[in-house]
Amino acid sequence: MPSYTNVISNDAHRKRERTQQLEMTTSDLLDTLQGLVSLFTNSLLTLFVLLGMCLLIPSICCSTLWAVFVSKNSSHYFVRTFFPGKKASKNMSTTIGSMSAIKVMRARATLSCGLGGPDNLALKLFRHSSPLGSETYVCGMQSFLFCFHILERWNIKLTKRIYTDQLTSLIMPQVGSVAYIQARTCWLDDVVEEFVRRHAGSSRKVANIVILGAGFDTRCYRDNLNLKHRGVHTFEVDARGTQREKLKLLQKCGISHQGVIFVECDFSSQNWMDCLLQDGKLDISLPTLFVWEGVTMYLERQTIELTLKLVSNKCASGSCIAFDYLDPTWSMTPTFQHLTARSGEPWLFGATTNDAVEIVLSQGLNIWDHLHGPILRERYLPKRANGQPIGFLGDKFGGFIVAGKVN
Ligand SMILES: C[S@@+](CC[C@H](N)C(=O)[O-])C[C@H]1O[C@@H](n2cnc3c(N)ncnc32)[C@H](O)[C@@H]1O
Repeated sequence: MPSYTNVISNDAHRKRERTQQLEMTTSDLLDTLQGLVSLFTNSLLTLFVLLGMCLLIPSICCSTLWAVFVSKNSSHYFVRTFFPGKKASKNMSTTIGSMSAIKVMRARATLSCGLGGPDNLALKLFRHSSPLGSETYVCGMQSFLFCFHILERWNIKLTKRIYTDQLTSLIMPQVGSVAYIQARTCWLDDVVEEFVRRHAGSSRKVANIVILGAGFDTRCYRDNLNLKHRGVHTFEVDARGTQREKLKLLQKCGISHQGVIFVECDFSSQNWMDCLLQDGKLDISLPTLFVWEGVTMYLERQTIELTLKLVSNKCASGSCIAFDYLDPTWSMTPTFQHLTARSGEPWLFGATTNDAVEIVLSQGLNIWDHLHGPILRERYLPKRANGQPIGFLGDKFGGFIVAGKVN
């Protein structure tokens, strides 16, 4: 059997489609005008910084006032942003909503602005969510994106080379997590595409897609995946706090969630399969894809093993689970442990490549895809005009796995 996503990613058409997003139609002309471009870029950059600064200060003041006086939940985010440690219960996702889920959504919004990120709805969610973030770069990035959009709205188009090569590459190399999220989101989109190609693709619903720990994932609503019309039942499972925040945000943005079944569950104290069967009426006789993006690090090892076992023991042939894991040599260091614990969402799990393989196999699943840094950089990171990837994705960040069941 071929590797799960190779089928798609080696497909020249899709690959071309992705890189084309970053290619400039007038590249020859711009090559000739290289000198002028850098002059122009420098002036533009200065303008951006000035505009960003002008917007940043009032935006922080207004959002602080709004957070404290208007939005109850945002005031929790505010407290966690500026006074980390205070009010942090063991798992924020269950009570007031996951801040890490918001950060991921913001990263995807950033990526969708001219960097080849596929999640166009993230930007919509981002614009309607609390302007506060836990990292200063988020505020800077927000102003940056805001300026970009104002310019676009006025029909002042920045060519991809100016935007991608010159402006974003100033920020992206320092933000490894954004590159990681780009690779992860694109890869999981490929997994979803491949699953639908194998098992569904008609209007008669013949397969399930379950997003575990969905956060602000938009796969069930995005036009590029079009899951609504492709023969799949869609489910989102998450802790109560996060899920309620998401439903409010979807409503604010006018994004319809009709047809998507929402199931509340705390993975550490409840059996998500029972919740899905009872509250979601999941039909497990159909092949099911579980998308488990950016969640394993927040769970104990036994919860992860139980999840894999449930897929292996309860689901139909052809079912699979796709997830990412972090390498403990960096994610379990005291610095990261301290930082994540302070944010109220501690990282509890990390695995080496061998550990991850062993955990999957011991729960009775086969590994259909297991990808690491080099291939992900090549497939999914946006490229500069000289072909070099923008953003940093190290060789030892961890890995991405599709684990499946064949009877
Ligand atoms: C980093 S976010 C990722 C969200 C989403 N999958 C994405 O990629 O945008 C982690 C998600 O895991 C969920 N989560 C963490 N611990 C959980 C738990 N014990 N029970 C249920 N959900 C949990 C959080 O609510 C949050 O939505």
